[in-house]
Amino acid sequence: MIVKRILKSWIGTFSLDDYQLIDGYLNEAGKTLFFQMGKIDQFHSLAVAQTIIADSKREAQPSSHVIQAALLHDVGKMADDFNLLTRILVALIRRLVPIYRGKLAMAQLDRRFWGRVRYGCYIDLIHPVRGAHLTLRAGFDPAVAELIRRHHDPPRLNQNPDLTKLQTADDQN
Ligand SMILES: [Fe+2]
Ligand SMILES: [Fe+2]
Repeated sequence: MIVKRILKSWIGTFSLDDYQLIDGYLNEAGKTLFFQMGKIDQFHSLAVAQTIIADSKREAQPSSHVIQAALLHDVGKMADDFNLLTRILVALIRRLVPIYRGKLAMAQLDRRFWGRVRYGCYIDLIHPVRGAHLTLRAGFDPAVAELIRRHHDPPRLNQNPDLTKLQTADDQN
């Protein structure tokens, strides 16, 4: 998955349709948040929004809240928080030994290699809360911020269907 995301960010470009989707759902502050993410997260977030739209084709239109949340769900990770290697390592730690992500997490950025990995673990842990805060400050509805805050929560019975859509599309992309 991470390799697919990296390749896409190297060779991909946004189409006119992509820009129209972003323009259609995000205000200026939202676009600033979107484009401050690294290219990998921009392409990933756009793909999450497009998956939700495609999956909803047979039902009613998806809510604007869930598309806004899809576009902004990872804005808590900013472009300079990771380099390519630390991004891959943090993704591996999260998937293979998730318990160590919390143990390694270090809030202070130390620019030496291992310090960068530890800071990356910290960002990876807090990005839902950080993203929710940024989204609220950018003027989005609290419901959008709440979806972002919960996007890595374990799925629960009777949870908001928009959260299920976001989590499912996030897993697929
Ligand atoms: Fe995320
Ligand atoms: Fe994501």
